[in-house]
Amino acid sequence: MYSYRKITRDMYAVGGNDRRLALFENMYPIPRGVSYNSYFVNDEKTVLLDTVDRAVADAFFENIDALLDGRQLDYVIVNHMEPDHCASLGELLRRHPSAQVVGNAKTIAMVGQFFAMDITPRAVIVTEGASLCTGRHTFNFYMAPMVHWPEVMVTYDTAEHILYSADAFGTFGAISGNLYDDEVELTEWLPELRRYYANIVGKYGVQVQSLLKKAAGLEISMICPLHGLIWRKNIPWIVEKYDRWSSYTPEENTVMIAYGSVYGNTAAAAELLAGLLAERGVRNIAVYDVSVTHPSVIVSEAFRCGTLVFASSTYNAEIFTNMQTLLMDLKEHALCRRKVALIENGSWGPVSGKKMRELFGSMKDITLLGDTLTLKSALRREQIPALTALADEITAALTSI
Ligand code: FEO
Repeated sequence: MYSYRKITRDMYAVGGNDRRLALFENMYPIPRGVSYNSYFVNDEKTVLLDTVDRAVADAFFENIDALLDGRQLDYVIVNHMEPDHCASLGELLRRHPSAQVVGNAKTIAMVGQFFAMDITPRAVIVTEGASLCTGRHTFNFYMAPMVHWPEVMVTYDTAEHILYSADAFGTFGAISGNLYDDEVELTEWLPELRRYYANIVGKYGVQVQSLLKKAAGLEISMICPLHGLIWRKNIPWIVEKYDRWSSYTPEENTVMIAYGSVYGNTAAAAELLAGLLAERGVRNIAVYDVSVTHPSVIVSEAFRCGTLVFASSTYNAEIFTNMQTLLMDLKEHALCRRKVALIENGSWGPVSGKKMRELFGSMKDITLLGDTLTLKSALRREQIPALTALADEITAALTSI
């Protein structure tokens, strides 16, 4: 049975939800599931914009068959070749041998890589600013390399002013009937929107900025991403978030503390610091145990907060393993424009502070606050003034973001 949804006069959402997948990209927990969006335009020519993950392929093919109702599929526009969207593309092309594939040169090469299929005879290769007229609709194509793969492009329908934005403006979280941004509480969706952005495209801020500039020149009534909500009412809101995240501008003038603690002593110092900050008026402080909270959540929180504190035990003469993983994750996501304070612990040879300092020194536009506070096994009463001074320094730095 079909499950498509009519969006406009000619356009339908034909994707689906996956609520079973544990790890998106075999890495990111998705307790609220994820949607794989695809769109069908019923014009003089029939057009499909992107395909779906294998997990929802059965429903997807039923939707297409129901909408085609015996007509042939003329075009499939491929905005993004990552398999969460294109795992079903090979099967689609086998089922619809007359469908032409619209993509850029990199897209067409990747089709061959993933499906061992030479689609050259049915490829319509487009470049920046190219158009495809299918009757009432004319689709313009804009390249968006590295948002989130090199072949990514976005498609703008001039007839209905719809931007098909590939991964951009997407989110983790399955759709529960309410397809549109104005049908849900965005504050409830914001953490997963941010976690998706930070972890999936967070590294490519420059490229996202470039896409935002292109989008600013378009009259947009609706943004249709490949994951999550369709944006029609709160477009300025999500564009502002993307502008902020992609320029690595913190959302909040607050502090995130992440600690890696073997027996609880490093944790105790981190908790004490959080209390001292709260007493100094800092609001919305976030504290995470790196052994408990998935790194994708902490990476996302690092995109939210302006000041970050990392408190780590020394382990195998290194940074505590889970903290090391987190910090490498932050570096690989090109996090910058942050203030950072460090606490280290070690019972005989504390070196985690030195190593964290070196790591942050290799990152762009990170301001280290104060000296590293060194604990030998546990915070001693006589170190409370040093911790208090650190809290003062962090609080003073907050006012200058
Ligand atoms: Fe949703 Fe980059 O794929």
